[in-house]
Amino acid sequence: MKFFIDTANLAQIKEAHEMGILDGVTTNPSLMAKEGITGHENIINHYKAICEITDGDVSAEVIATTFDEMIVEGEALASLHERIVVKVPMIKDGIKAIRYFSQKGIKTNCTLVFSAGQALLAAKVGATYVSPFIGRLDDVSTDGLRLIEDINLIYDNYGFQTQILAASVRHPMHIINCAKIGADVITGPLSAMAALMKHPLTDNGLAQFLADHAKAAVV
Ligand code: E4P
Repeated sequence: MKFFIDTANLAQIKEAHEMGILDGVTTNPSLMAKEGITGHENIINHYKAICEITDGDVSAEVIATTFDEMIVEGEALASLHERIVVKVPMIKDGIKAIRYFSQKGIKTNCTLVFSAGQALLAAKVGATYVSPFIGRLDDVSTDGLRLIEDINLIYDNYGFQTQILAASVRHPMHIINCAKIGADVITGPLSAMAALMKHPLTDNGLAQFLADHAKAAVV
């Protein structure tokens, strides 16, 4: 299972990379804005900086919403670095654009996916990744994990190669449950990944081992 970090914060991307758990990065326009990255040139330079940190795929989202504009923007993003994945919204022109990119060998991430039908369309046009937003579904009292299960079943039935990238992951149980279902990738904040390592019995056990070692050294 791959771990992508869902942020445009370079320090957090570096921290996850240095922990050895990072397989890639996803960004979106809101995450870029949160880091204060505005203006075409700054945004482009920021994507390049992210690609310098990680060895994995980096999703860069198009702002355009028409086919022709998405193609121009997506091709420019893809030319920045071999690890850039063009992130395209699940809209009609987005579907056409994903098909175009896929035929040209450009990797894509179909974003803003909230139903199994949308995921089926993304796979049919050859998306590299599909991003169902499980946290946002949970926010509206709909089971996000159930959607991951449904997509997994559908993709298995037909041998679709599109990777399920569980997005909008918010906490460690999302990650564990996605792993149980068999999602290919999760993307979420560093805090959710770091929380996987925490257990009070580990902390207590270590404190006890160190205390016993120190006592024995005194004798
Ligand atoms: C996916 O790629 C999105 O960037 C992201 O996971 C959205 O998460 P949020 O619902 O926490 O904003």
